[in-house]
Amino acid sequence: MGLSYTFTHAICRAPSNSIIDGLRAVDTGTPDLDTFRQHHADYVAALRATGAEVTVLAPLEEFPDSVFVEDAALCLPKGAVIMRPGAPSRLGEALAIAPAIAETYGEVRAIEGPGFIEGGDILVTEREILVGKSARTDADGVEELRAIVSDWGYTLRELQTPPDVLHFKTDCSLLDAETILTTRRLAASGCFDGYNLIYTEDDEEACANAIRFNDRVLFPAGFPRTAETLDKAGYNVTEIGNSEAAKLDGGMSCLSLRFTPPA
Ligand code: GLY
Repeated sequence: MGLSYTFTHAICRAPSNSIIDGLRAVDTGTPDLDTFRQHHADYVAALRATGAEVTVLAPLEEFPDSVFVEDAALCLPKGAVIMRPGAPSRLGEALAIAPAIAETYGEVRAIEGPGFIEGGDILVTEREILVGKSARTDADGVEELRAIVSDWGYTLRELQTPPDVLHFKTDCSLLDAETILTTRRLAASGCFDGYNLIYTEDDEEACANAIRFNDRVLFPAGFPRTAETLDKAGYNVTEIGNSEAAKLDGGMSCLSLRFTPPA
């Protein structure tokens, strides 16, 4: 236990003014900065309410998407790995996050390339590390990560993110050791066989990116039928506004690195 949803720490990064220039697949409007900041503050407060120590790093104006810290690193109980983002404008975020990770972990490993991999494509469960290849994560990146995490005794399984979906975790979240919240389009491949599945309700696929963080599920506001499904299944659901991050294809998992440092 302890690999996938119980954490003592998290790292977030405050939204920069430049976030209005963040990447997006489809332009659905400019994020409102004040609203983004309020949602981010609510998110950090919800993490802290579980008793976790949450570090909020200073904003990075030169990297508009840097609020989405999850893509720049992978933090596991036995070690941390700095990623190599596949979006050229995000490549430098990996170097920028490294000192904060090293402060906690000491020595960190890094994906050196030539492959690419982003944290949004990685779902860590109690038994394995699932990595979906995507437009941001390629086979070389997956293999380099496999070599690193194998040294630590973890099993990695390579999967495929559905076409036109930004990240693997855009479409799924871990809810507990055995249970995954998923869209039907992702689960249709059979990639979660052996897990208990809870499906997003029809027309609510955009809420599949949630996080289980200690006793809570942080869940994007605005998806009442799936929220009710989770509530009835016994999860302690905390709804957080996500309207502005969603304009940049961001969700609950993207906004934090969650971990328990090595003893
Ligand atoms: N806007 C987040 C991303 O595309 O990586």
